[in-house]
Amino acid sequence: METHPPQEAMNRMLTGYWTTQSLYVAAKLGIADLLSNGPRSADDLAKATNTHAPSLFRLLRGLASLGVFADDGTARFSLTPLAECLRSDAPGSQRALAIMCGEEHYKAWGELLYSVQTGNIAFDKLYGMPVFEFLSKNVEQAKVFDAAMVGVHGRETAAMTDAYDFSSIGVLADVGGGNGSLLTTVLKKHPHMKGVLYDLPGVTERAKANLKEAGLADRCTVIGGNFFESVPAGADAYLMRHIIHDWDDEKATTILRNVHQAIGQEGRLLVIEGVIPPGNEPCFGKLLDLTMLTIPGGKERTEEEYRTLFKAGGFELIRIVPTKAEVSVIEGRKL
Ligand SMILES: C[S@@+](CC[C@H](N)C(=O)[O-])C[C@H]1O[C@@H](n2cnc3c(N)ncnc32)[C@H](O)[C@@H]1O
Repeated sequence: METHPPQEAMNRMLTGYWTTQSLYVAAKLGIADLLSNGPRSADDLAKATNTHAPSLFRLLRGLASLGVFADDGTARFSLTPLAECLRSDAPGSQRALAIMCGEEHYKAWGELLYSVQTGNIAFDKLYGMPVFEFLSKNVEQAKVFDAAMVGVHGRETAAMTDAYDFSSIGVLADVGGGNGSLLTTVLKKHPHMKGVLYDLPGVTERAKANLKEAGLADRCTVIGGNFFESVPAGADAYLMRHIIHDWDDEKATTILRNVHQAIGQEGRLLVIEGVIPPGNEPCFGKLLDLTMLTIPGGKERTEEEYRTLFKAGGFELIRIVPTKAEVSVIEGRKL
């Protein structure tokens, strides 16, 4: 078997940002959308995107070398399965994710050293405010963020509904439910179920429109609010996907305590997060953890850390149901 010297692997790691930025520029320019009706020349694409044709060709050639777009040998480019992911209309499109990763996230990761030296949040240093406040003040970036959540976490939804039985839940509250895509999938799978989507006002306006478009307006109540102040009462189960990992232990405990206030004695707490395993195996969550460090100021946690956190919030961790995706359903009940 051919062996590769470690320097080769190290080179690929060190130059990872070349790929991030190349994908970002292609996504920002909407190249995959422009190729949705068939191949086009680099010159033609340059005209359509108002870019410098020889430079655009070099970008596309570089991406084609990674399997994103294909050159037919005459500088005419077409979509590949990887490039399809960057189409705006692809199911679970990753175009917005590419844009988010190439803009605010890229800049924040550029300050990782600051976060590691101080434990402080790089995003706040760069933008002068926490990320969710930034998003509430910047509507365009907020729309990209909503769509990026589908790009990065969307495939977790099916994995989660396959692995966990939601059928006995009458009313499901999705706390920090974002664009409503998770509730849409669960409510469509369980026609008897009703939903409550709770998120910051502004986010809920966009979610309301999405749920209406999905034909679920009459089965889903949308409520704007702040989960550090309160959480609406009355649901049988309270689900939070990628909420708890956004916050440090103190803030995460406040959210759990507010759910505790809202939930009935028989209610179910469903926290959907990656659970950090021991050992050195490849693990998406261990690097996502650094995004949590630099951007919202949260963390990925181990099973033990979730157990302790649940207890602090007034819950007992009952079981962890793994899924085919990088997340598990961490179930809790009131202590
Ligand atoms: C990482 S996103 C996860 C979105 C969604 N649960 C998902 O899995 O795609 C975090 C969500 O928390 C919401 N959020 C942040 N701070 C909040 C607050 N104080 N009260 C309510 N929602 C909040 C954000 O608007 C965003 O929709």
